Amino acid sequence: MDSSIIFLLAFVALMGLMFVFLFATARRRDAERALDDAPTIEERAEAATAHLPVPVGHASASGRELERSVALQRRGGAQVATPEAPPAPLPAPLDEEALGVTRRQVLNRGIVATFALTLTGFGTACVAMLWPSLSGGFGSKIRVGKLDEIMEEIADKKEPFYLAAGRLYINPYPTEDAEKAKKITAYSAVLEGYEAGVVALYQKCVHLGCRVPWCKTSQWFECPCHGSQYNRVGEKKGGPAPRGLDRFAASVEGGVVIVDTKTVIPGPPIGTNTTGQESEGPHCIGATSEH
Ligand code: FES
Repeated sequence: MDSSIIFLLAFVALMGLMFVFLFATARRRDAERALDDAPTIEERAEAATAHLPVPVGHASASGRELERSVALQRRGGAQVATPEAPPAPLPAPLDEEALGVTRRQVLNRGIVATFALTLTGFGTACVAMLWPSLSGGFGSKIRVGKLDEIMEEIADKKEPFYLAAGRLYINPYPTEDAEKAKKITAYSAVLEGYEAGVVALYQKCVHLGCRVPWCKTSQWFECPCHGSQYNRVGEKKGGPAPRGLDRFAASVEGGVVIVDTKTVIPGPPIGTNTTGQESEGPHCIGATSEH
């Protein structure tokens, strides 16, 4: 998985968390403002009594007398003075619907949303990282590059084209030897690449798994661990390796080399020598013995 995609996913998750936080904060602020704007109990009582008639015979009435007066008026049988104006309606009591959600609900929803977003971001990053076909790395079909450019680089440097992401080497395969390769059962799955002039070799030594480097002087692969040697197309030439280098199916589509690293194809048996390429100079690894 490209690290930039992981960062992008993390950024999106972070933005989501910030949005949830801001949303929850805004809702809470609205609710608090609604509470602040609402009249207090004292203000409501005052508003209620402002329009009430004063009981007859009383220049000034106590609170209890006012309450009694209101109750009698509501029942319609009170002996009170005729009001000059109809009483103003009492302010409607505040409820949760008017205020939106409560603080507790905002907090709970924020926590749930945060948890869900975090899980989603983490899950997406994991899937993207573990899904090889998305990454174009080892375990998937890889577009290595243009055949012409790869072959030119190999000829210039006198060494295989190495692709670390695919853990593989690309070397030219002599197309005139493809007919001989057809007789080797182990090559049946890689013939398409040979006919296109390409062999894709797994970097791992088939003896005990060391990465096999290229020896520029001998023009062979020579393993530093126990001295196994393989020629340019990965056919075993010496050392304890039980077969030639393992490889991948390769093809050339529209001039581009495609290597399928989903399947590692076991190398050819000892004694296979379709190209006849012998050592072209001193070996990089000391003298080895055939096993
Ligand atoms: S691991 Fe390469 S020769 Fe042993």
